[in-house]
Formats: sequence, structure tokens, C-alpha cells
Amino acid sequence: MRVLVLGGTLEARLLSARLCAHGELSVTTSLAGVVLDSPPPPGRVRTGGFGGVEGLVSYLLQERFGVVVDATHPFAQQITATAAQAAAQLRIPLLVLRRPGWTPQVGDDWVWVRSMAAAAATVALAPPGRVLLTAGRRAVSSFAGDATHHYIVRSINPPVGPLPPSMTLVLDRGPFTIETEHTLMVEHAVTMLVTKDSGGSMTAAKVAAARSLGVSVVIVARPPVPSGVPAVTTVEDAERWVASHIRYA
Ligand SMILES: NC(=O)c1ccc[n+]([C@@H]2O[C@H](COP(=O)([O-])OP(=O)(O)OC[C@H]3O[C@@H](n4cnc5c(N)ncnc54)[C@H](OP(=O)(O)O)[C@@H]3O)[C@@H](O)[C@H]2O)c1
Repeated sequence: MRVLVLGGTLEARLLSARLCAHGELSVTTSLAGVVLDSPPPPGRVRTGGFGGVEGLVSYLLQERFGVVVDATHPFAQQITATAAQAAAQLRIPLLVLRRPGWTPQVGDDWVWVRSMAAAAATVALAPPGRVLLTAGRRAVSSFAGDATHHYIVRSINPPVGPLPPSMTLVLDRGPFTIETEHTLMVEHAVTMLVTKDSGGSMTAAKVAAARSLGVSVVIVARPPVPSGVPAVTTVEDAERWVASHIRYA
């Protein structure tokens, strides 16, 4: 049986590795190709967008996939919606693998918001200060209208669109440690952190560093999993789900 894993995350890579060990599965990982994914995941790899729902439907039919696992990032909303529509159209079993989100601990000062626009509105109301923005390069334009705060923007690639008038750009990619996040926040005298609830360990160090420094956090909640699509939070559960479909394929 052919399995399509929509990737771009550590979990997708780990799942593809586990599935490749099943002799009866042919595993293809699909990557958007935006950021270099190294090393490449095991099994077959394809790169680039499908061309929306229509493109993914054609690809699924052409390659005769039996099941699809959407293991993309929790905030990769477009591809998740596309996968849900394409799988429903073809009646192909689809699973969402989404690592657990973060939960506040003692000492955390978090404000949950539903969107990047709401995060920008929340920051705008805060006293003047220095804001570490680590929510992806497309998020930066939401803060372009704020002349009260200085932004320290950290992203893998330079941000796109309008930028806040007062800004320092730090181009870097994780994983980061609590120590390096701590140093970054101290060096830039950060008073507030804006982040998405990405979950996982790769980027969790920044919230731990914020806790230790008493830096307040504006955290954007995840978009919901498309209704009717089953979801799991661990690679092991995703592997079990795929295995359960081999028997009935
Ligand atoms: N958003 C984040 O914070 C984040 C963080 C780390 C990693 N990533 C990974 O980076 C990729 C892009 O993220 P995004 O937020 O730009 O996603 P997105 O907004 O949901 O996707 C934008 C477009 O990129 C294409 N695409 C996305 N993921 C794909 C995949 N795995 N295989 C083939 N095409 C894909 C699709 O193009 P078509 O419509 O043409 O099919 C999709 O419509 C995702 O695969 C995600 O797992 C995202």
C-alpha cells in the first residue's frame, strides 16, 4: 500500500522512517520546498505545492495512495485544509498527526490570542518595550503599524511585506537551547515574546527562557483540525493508524 506523508516537521520525518520499516508499505513524503529539509526524510520524497485541492486530487489518483497522513506544522493551515478536502473527495483515509501544544507552567505570564492580528492588537496595548517576535516571517507585517515598540524579529528567512518602523532582524534557525534563548533575550533587553503555540521541543526553549526572565508571552492558539478528520499527537499512534489500514486495504 502507498502512503503519502505530508511533511515539513520532525514528526513527519520520524513517521516516514517508521513506516519505511514496514515491508508492505511504499512511503512518500511531500515537502513544500520552502525551507531546506535536511537530511531528507527516508523513502520517496517529492517537493513543491500540488496546486490546491484539484492538484492534490490528481496526484493522489495518479500515484494510487491508499492513505494520507498530514504531519505538517500545526500552523500550516492551507495544506491541512487542502488535504482534508482532497481526501474527502476521493474517500481516502486521512489522519492528522499534530504534536501536543504547550501548556503554561508556574511562573508563566501568557496571554492566549486567536490570530496574529489579535497578537498585534495585544502588544499595541502593552507599555512601550522590546518585543521578540518568533512567529514566522509572514507574521511580521501584522505588527507594521506599531511605532510604540521595538521589535526583535527572529526568522529563518527575511520577513516579507511591511515591517515595524523600529526593528532588529536576527536571521537564525533552531533548535535553540534555553541558554541561547536566555542570552538573546538579555542582549536585546526583551520585555515581551510573541510566539505561536507550535508545541514540541525544537522551539520550546524560548518559552522556558521567558519564564526564567519574567518576560510576558503573547501566544497564538492553533487553528483547529478540520472537522471530521481523526487526529493523533504521537508518531507511534500515527504508525498504528496506518498499520490498521494495511489490514483492510
Ligand atoms: N507554518 C509554520 O509555522 C511552519 C513551521 C515549520 C514548518 N512548516 C512546514 O513548512 C511547510 C509550509 O508551511 P506553510 O505554513 O507555508 O503552509 P501552508 O500555508 O499550509 O501552505 C502553503 C502552500 O504550500 C504548499 N505546501 C505546504 N505544505 C506542503 C507539503 N508538505 N507538501 C506539498 N506542498 C505543501 C501548498 O501549495 P499548493 O496549494 O500549491 O498545494 C500550500 O497551499 C509545511 O509543509 C509545514 O509543515 C511550517
